[in-house]
Amino acid sequence: MATANNPRKILITSALPYANGSIHLGHLVEYIQTDIWVRFQKMQGHTVHYVCADDTHGTPIMLRAEKEGITPEALIANVHKEHAADFAEFLVQFDNYYSTNAPENKELSQGIYKKLKAAGKIATKTIEQFYDPVKNMFLPDRFIKGECPKCHAKDQYGDSCEVCGATYNPTELVNAYSAVSGAAPVRKETEHYFFKLSECEQFLKDWTRSGTLQGEAANKMGEWFENGLNDWDISRDAPYFGFEIPDAPGKYFYVWLDAPIGYMASFKNLCDKTGAGDLGLGVSENTLNFDEYWQVQGNEGKNPETELYHFIGKDILYFHALFWPATLEFSGHRKPTQIFAHGFLTVNGEKMSKSRGTFITARSYLDHIKNPEYLRYYYAAKLNSTMEDIDLNLEDFVARVNSDLVGKYINIASRTAGFINKRFDGKLNPTTNNSVVAEIKAAVQLLADSYAGREYGKALREIMRLADLANGFVAEKAPWVMAKQAGQDAVLQQVCSDALEMFRLLTLYLKPVLPKLAAEIEQFLNIEPLTWAAVDASLSAQHSINAYEHLITRVDAKQIEAMTEANKENLQATPAPQPHSEQRHAVHQQNEANLDTADAEYISIDDFTKVDLRIAKIVNAEHVEGAEKLLKLTLDIGEEQSRQVFAGIKSAYDPATLVGRLTVMVANLAPRKMKFGMSEGMVLAASDERGGPFILSPDTGAQLGMRVK
Ligand code: MSP
Ligand code: ZN
Repeated sequence: MATANNPRKILITSALPYANGSIHLGHLVEYIQTDIWVRFQKMQGHTVHYVCADDTHGTPIMLRAEKEGITPEALIANVHKEHAADFAEFLVQFDNYYSTNAPENKELSQGIYKKLKAAGKIATKTIEQFYDPVKNMFLPDRFIKGECPKCHAKDQYGDSCEVCGATYNPTELVNAYSAVSGAAPVRKETEHYFFKLSECEQFLKDWTRSGTLQGEAANKMGEWFENGLNDWDISRDAPYFGFEIPDAPGKYFYVWLDAPIGYMASFKNLCDKTGAGDLGLGVSENTLNFDEYWQVQGNEGKNPETELYHFIGKDILYFHALFWPATLEFSGHRKPTQIFAHGFLTVNGEKMSKSRGTFITARSYLDHIKNPEYLRYYYAAKLNSTMEDIDLNLEDFVARVNSDLVGKYINIASRTAGFINKRFDGKLNPTTNNSVVAEIKAAVQLLADSYAGREYGKALREIMRLADLANGFVAEKAPWVMAKQAGQDAVLQQVCSDALEMFRLLTLYLKPVLPKLAAEIEQFLNIEPLTWAAVDASLSAQHSINAYEHLITRVDAKQIEAMTEANKENLQATPAPQPHSEQRHAVHQQNEANLDTADAEYISIDDFTKVDLRIAKIVNAEHVEGAEKLLKLTLDIGEEQSRQVFAGIKSAYDPATLVGRLTVMVANLAPRKMKFGMSEGMVLAASDERGGPFILSPDTGAQLGMRVK
């Protein structure tokens, strides 16, 4: 492994967002995940380039521009500004944020196409497609609507029915019409260009086994191989917003052909910009060499010198794990070192929804919650290296941010810095032999490994455990008590200095996630920007810190409420055409099975937190006439109304002995009408052949209404 003296050269990408919609909280999972990794690798001293761009081509963008009465170029320029601003505010720090509609991309796309053609990998085939005779254009499946062939719901898309969930071909729709003009589409023959993916199977199988993919992704590939690979349709007929295919007038590259090449184009643009900074006196140290990152180099086509990583969502795995490596291989380019796919965001356990107000744009979050680092922290706490979906539970978001960031982390400084500022003129004592400091330092390798392995949740759990130790140290020494006692100055200064050293180390560990806060803390601690190597340093003797200023405020549940209210859309409104529909459909065509990564043996923490377990006080218990097994319990969990629950514990308990006891109930079980009345929850009890049921009791100190988690 490379060290700081021998830095690795790493090129990192996030998927290119479509230029026809706003960045939303779902997108941000990916850009925040990538940015944390980028910042971590940079803190290690490696040479890292993080590039991205807007994905600008295709029918939806062309039609949206037309609808807005502007050119596609004007539309994508507006969106580019908006996207760049959103990313900047979420502290996603690209080294270059470019566009696929750029000269570099055109040249690279056409060049790659020519190489593929020379390698015999391009074929043409005449196919029959739906055509809009009024608009004079071929229609992507998602722009054809009609009656569902299965349930006869009206106005369904050409690929699937939103009412009954059926999937079908657009030819099966009843009374089909063009979503663009309303005209009845006709079928028309046209010549299309294909990339012969079917001939790439052996290469792709070998590539899949080379350790480039996560286990789940490799399994998915296995399924795709089993279904057989179809050749990939890479052309679209005019009118189309995209790049023309060389020597094929009126034919354009399908958006997904030039989109990943956009990674290269953005990097090429960065290389050229970096080169322009040099004064022409030969190759400067900083000049970036495009070929070093994209050409096959060294032995057997491996690139020992540079590394290439793509962060993507699981929905676009097919494009990145099949088409992209095959395109690179047969055009003479290097292949990705690894592809990192993540799961999808759900909000409060469900798909983001406009009617529930949980389809939240990046801008709307900024308007209401303001602080982007809360979201970065929350996502990081939830992220791991798998393709599992991650849930943004808005209630949990408030609780987690307030308790971890404000209550644990910042608390260390806010309880100690004031004494150093006021009593010791900002001067610290050197840290001497503090065992908590030592334990925090000892975590450095575990944390580096967790970040490198994209196990951010694991890293943050460890960091919060260390923050608990630091707070325990402060609470035990109680500097606020010492401050009132005579003759305690030296100890007070030492305790507060030690605490601030702990705070410095935790700040370093959190810096990939909270870069802005870290910069403010560096300023307050009066230290150089923290790198990973600074673990070995310390706040040295006679070092002076600056005045402590309030660093962070709590999130208020009211802000969340205002945000979801503001995002609620009237259900009656005509649903806007789903962004990226054309592209998503292309995945269906390629046998994209539902990427359900649920593991039968495990549930996620999110599954668990769906169960609302509460401490309940049994305020009444009685027999139920006619019931053999049941007792009727009245439970108080601190709500206005007590709950009535029928529990099958009659064989083991005399009701009178239960009254006044505390136990645990499931508080959010759907109420159920039973023979003897409504049951509004469930109490938990243990039993097997050895006996029972035994109901649960909490430890002394638990109060009714407390959540069990
Ligand atoms: N333009 C293509 C990518 C081309 S890459 C050469 C695209 N764009 S997108 O805007 O639809 O999505 C951009 C990225 O955001 C994708 O990796 C996608 O998986 C991710 N996400 C979009 N919605 C998401 C969620 N709701 N949750 C998590 N990630 C999501 O696909
Ligand atoms: Zn249907």
